[in-house]
Amino acid sequence: MINQERLQEIKKRALESHIPIIMDDTLEEIQKRLKNKPPKKILEIGTAVGYSAMCFSELLQSDGYIDTIERESERVEEAKQNFIYVGVQDKIHIYEGDAVEILPTLENVYDVVFIDAAKGKYPFFLNQALRMLSPDGIIFADNILYKGYVMSDYNKHKQRTAVRNLREYIKEATENPELETEILEVGDGLAISKRKVM
Ligand SMILES: C[S@@+](CC[C@H](N)C(=O)[O-])C[C@H]1O[C@@H](n2cnc3c(N)ncnc32)[C@H](O)[C@@H]1O
Repeated sequence: MINQERLQEIKKRALESHIPIIMDDTLEEIQKRLKNKPPKKILEIGTAVGYSAMCFSELLQSDGYIDTIERESERVEEAKQNFIYVGVQDKIHIYEGDAVEILPTLENVYDVVFIDAAKGKYPFFLNQALRMLSPDGIIFADNILYKGYVMSDYNKHKQRTAVRNLREYIKEATENPELETEILEVGDGLAISKRKVM
């Protein structure tokens, strides 16, 4: 059982330090979707300081675990300390490095993939997630509407690549005949893609 008081302390510290963490309504939606079918293995792309991974650890089957990937070494260190602090270090394994390089080296099967890293890489992350997703697995992609830019004609230079790639993700996820995809306006937008049992 996770130490809730300590988890809230970590959340508060992350918010005060402007570290982006999962929004409450996004987390609630994911909790709701997984409540009746606890996953055994979760893959997370984008750990930050481990807040979402710690929350997800409560949704796992008793022998379940989480693999999570983070490229910033300071965040990796903080996440590792946080996992020990709340007592989930045996359930979460953190890979340090760029997910673009790490993902192709993974050979596991995951019941859930949570995508929450570089927006410009979302289509690549989707392909990697599909390669490792269990037959009735589910993929969550956070920030899919990116402050509303994705559904507007907003075309500012800095966000253009991210917006183009998020739109491509939505197109691929909704047009893939293997998937059933919903786009929800919770938090910063959440795409939920379930693999259809064929
Ligand atoms: C939104 S934060 C993750 C928040 C975390 N999932 C949570 O809710 O507590 C995104 C994180 O992804 C990391 N990141 C971005 N692109 C990455 C990549 N290509 N490979 C690994 N980590 C990446 C960033 O350094 C950042 O810490």
